[in-house]
Amino acid sequence: MCGIIGCVSEKDCCGALYDGLKRLEYRGYDSAGIAVLGEKLSVCKKKGGVSALSCFFAQGNTGIGHTRWATHGAPSDTNAHPHRAGKIVLVHNGIAENFSALKAELEGAGECFYSETDTEVIAKLISRAYRGDLLSAVKEGLSRVEGSYAVAVIAEDRPGELVAAKYKSPLVAGKGAAGLFVCSDIPALAGAADFIARAEDKDFIRIGGGRIEFFDENLKPVSRTFFRPQKELFALSVAGGGYFMRSEIAEIPQALGRTLCALGQADFAPCARALRAAKRLFAVACGTAYHSALVFADIAEASLGIPVICHTAGEFRYRPPVIGEGDVLIAVSQSGETADTLEAVRLAAERGAYVIAVTNIGSSSIAALADFCLVMRAGAEVAVAATKSYNCQLLCLYYLAAQCLFFKEEKYPDWFSSLNLLPAAAEEAFSRFSEIDGLADRLKGARAMYFLGRGLDLCTAKEGALKVKEIARVFAEGYPAGELKHGSLALAEEGFPVVCVSTSGRLAKKSENALAEVRSRGGYCALFSQYEEVLSESCADFKCLLPALPEALMPAVSVIPLQYFAYKMCLERGYDPDKPRNLAKSVTVE
Ligand code: G6P
Repeated sequence: MCGIIGCVSEKDCCGALYDGLKRLEYRGYDSAGIAVLGEKLSVCKKKGGVSALSCFFAQGNTGIGHTRWATHGAPSDTNAHPHRAGKIVLVHNGIAENFSALKAELEGAGECFYSETDTEVIAKLISRAYRGDLLSAVKEGLSRVEGSYAVAVIAEDRPGELVAAKYKSPLVAGKGAAGLFVCSDIPALAGAADFIARAEDKDFIRIGGGRIEFFDENLKPVSRTFFRPQKELFALSVAGGGYFMRSEIAEIPQALGRTLCALGQADFAPCARALRAAKRLFAVACGTAYHSALVFADIAEASLGIPVICHTAGEFRYRPPVIGEGDVLIAVSQSGETADTLEAVRLAAERGAYVIAVTNIGSSSIAALADFCLVMRAGAEVAVAATKSYNCQLLCLYYLAAQCLFFKEEKYPDWFSSLNLLPAAAEEAFSRFSEIDGLADRLKGARAMYFLGRGLDLCTAKEGALKVKEIARVFAEGYPAGELKHGSLALAEEGFPVVCVSTSGRLAKKSENALAEVRSRGGYCALFSQYEEVLSESCADFKCLLPALPEALMPAVSVIPLQYFAYKMCLERGYDPDKPRNLAKSVTVE
């Protein structure tokens, strides 16, 4: 959702900015730009991915860079950041919600705009406030802006100085041999910074004279703690070669192993009291993380016997406030920065609920706000479509549900000891990939498809459908198998593809009925189950045997062939799986 980076170093910083942008590219990739300030200011901004800047080099030790996910104004060279006004050059992540009013006011005052962006308005405001003191000008300019922002700003006449600020959009500062940095997130500083500090909302950061200084909203100096980041976030997956998504699927067993190890060492004592006393649990998340929250709701409700209410974070935050003291909210977010999830956490905390975060980034905004945080240690996930983080999220959530039961009833669920089997089961799922190649080849021309499931399998079906939509650009819907005949069956016709996940012995016959209804109308059915008899008795055209695990744990592995299926469909259809159209990995605006 736009990535920003800024650097002041002792040597030329252009290469470090470019490398950082490459690592930030999953935040948006419709245009990119770099400004470098040395003896003179050089700016290069282009429509397209970061590699559009690969031929750009300029000397200078001060610079800023941006990779864009367009909100205001189409992707174009002109709308690309950095934006310039007078001596001020700026990159921005966020949305200035009052930009139309500000723009009209500035136009009335004689300003001319060259772009359609909200960001240029911020550049103008800072430029009008600039009289040689960059920090004060940034503060004054931003005081007019409503919405969210993380900005990095330089002034043409002040090489060696950079000012950054944030409100509701992520921003970290980093220092290392390569220089002093600000950046949208930590993994982009791999190899460049050894120590990181998180900025808080309304913080200002000034880099200059070899120092990083933090200021509060009144420009009073404040201290923020520098820490060494989780080292696995600096190691990018390379296991499968080629695309990140493929490597990240290949890394699932190792990632699950790391997560198991971290969970084994985690101290749950701080959340024991809240979990023991909880009368209701809430689970909120967005996208893929929402599907893992759905699995949690099912599992936890079944083992604890208390209501577990699951919402997408964007819906939760605008519902009537039913949450309060005595409730526990579990917020699931790979990045820990998703705006809707973050706001849901704020709301729950304000109302007195106890908040548990499950995230991949222990130093993220959601982790910072939560009362208790489980860090999943999936490692850096670069592909926009989440894969390994989903499996690791599920593992964390199983563990959490088991701890809840332990705190309430001093016993663990019967599947608890089988969590150790997940890495090997994930590895086993890979052996089915050659069959999936055939399925993707068969279905590559599909215009729409259903993913069916019941119970926990419905969560997997929804995640499979989301993956196919995200990267293969095929309309797909995850649907309760039992609901098919209440409307959706109207689409079934010759060749219409239906994928069914059926891992519950109790519900297998019911799901088979749905497949039979599709099959008898000429539809093409693919069935996934760990039970050989379920497969052998099915009318499905394609059958895939899943690794066997306790049924409660099946979502953590039954999704793997579907993740791979979406990947293969994407390649078959000629798209880049790492850069799905219109999407960004970290959605830090509402
Ligand atoms: C975006 C991404 C999804 C992701 C969702 C939630 O929509 O494209 O892949 O699942 O955000 O992200 P989070 O970081 O909160 O898990």
